[in-house]
Amino acid sequence: MSGGSGLPRIRIRGLSKRFNSNVVLEDVDLDIMPGQSTTIIGMSGSGKSVLIKCILGLIKPDSGEILIDGENWLQLEEQELLLRMRRIGMLFQGAALFDSLSVWENVAFALLQQNTGKEEARERAIEVLEWVGLHDIADLMPAELSGGMAKRVGLARTICHKPDIVFFDEPTTGLDPIMSDVINRLIVRLHKDSGTTMLSITHDLKSAAMISDHIALLCHGRIHRQIPSSELDSDQDPMLRQFVEGRAQGPINCSHWGKKIEEAIQR
Ligand SMILES: Nc1ncnc2c1ncn2[C@@H]1O[C@H](COP(=O)(O)OP(=O)(O)OP(=O)(O)O)[C@@H](O)[C@H]1O
Ligand SMILES: [Mg+2]
Repeated sequence: MSGGSGLPRIRIRGLSKRFNSNVVLEDVDLDIMPGQSTTIIGMSGSGKSVLIKCILGLIKPDSGEILIDGENWLQLEEQELLLRMRRIGMLFQGAALFDSLSVWENVAFALLQQNTGKEEARERAIEVLEWVGLHDIADLMPAELSGGMAKRVGLARTICHKPDIVFFDEPTTGLDPIMSDVINRLIVRLHKDSGTTMLSITHDLKSAAMISDHIALLCHGRIHRQIPSSELDSDQDPMLRQFVEGRAQGPINCSHWGKKIEEAIQR
């Protein structure tokens, strides 16, 4: 599934971000090769979403480099960055559809922004809606959808403009196990069919193992360990084992939760 050699599609070097005294990212390094699918796992509050928001330009890091195909996106003018962002697809947690737009207008949003004609955009939207099994709901409004349908519409919107890098923030969180499996299979198929480079965040380890060829553990502000997904059950790194086995006690420092809770779980 992973492909390519040479220049990483995404290269992050020394990325740091703090909010006042809260040091969230401290010297994050991460490489994702073209066509690779990497999932970042890590405790709640470890900075996974902040990391993706930094890459997407939604949060400005304090220092570091974000290189996409060798180009430092942090040094681009706003207009240049907006142009580059056309290559990106993003599935937000909870789908984040626009309430006032119909399903097909949501799906075709990036195309309509890029001045694609209405008819052509609608045709492409229906094509990708078909791909997620929802071609007959193009004219419904987001309020008329179930959570699982909204997630699939969000997935269709993510890929409608044929991005070559996609980000998935918690693609299966809040879904039942069967719908989670549907979403995971769609993501795997997308990856196989298009060779898109993917960066996902999830708490769902089954999903991580299924949709990605590499897994990176974000811990104490850094990418502590990066392994092939096939080694998730066998890797002996103590922090990775603590996270995978879901143990409150271990080397992952929980002190940011406060002294009382730390004392309680150490007892
Ligand atoms: N805009 C912001 N302003 C101030 N602090 C923020 C902001 N965004 C995130 N943080 C802080 O950064 C830390 C990491 O947050 P982040 O949302 O990245 O966690 P996460 O790893 O995605 O957690 P979860 O798994 O619960 O989604 C938290 O302590 C959070 O309070
Ligand atoms: Mg998050």
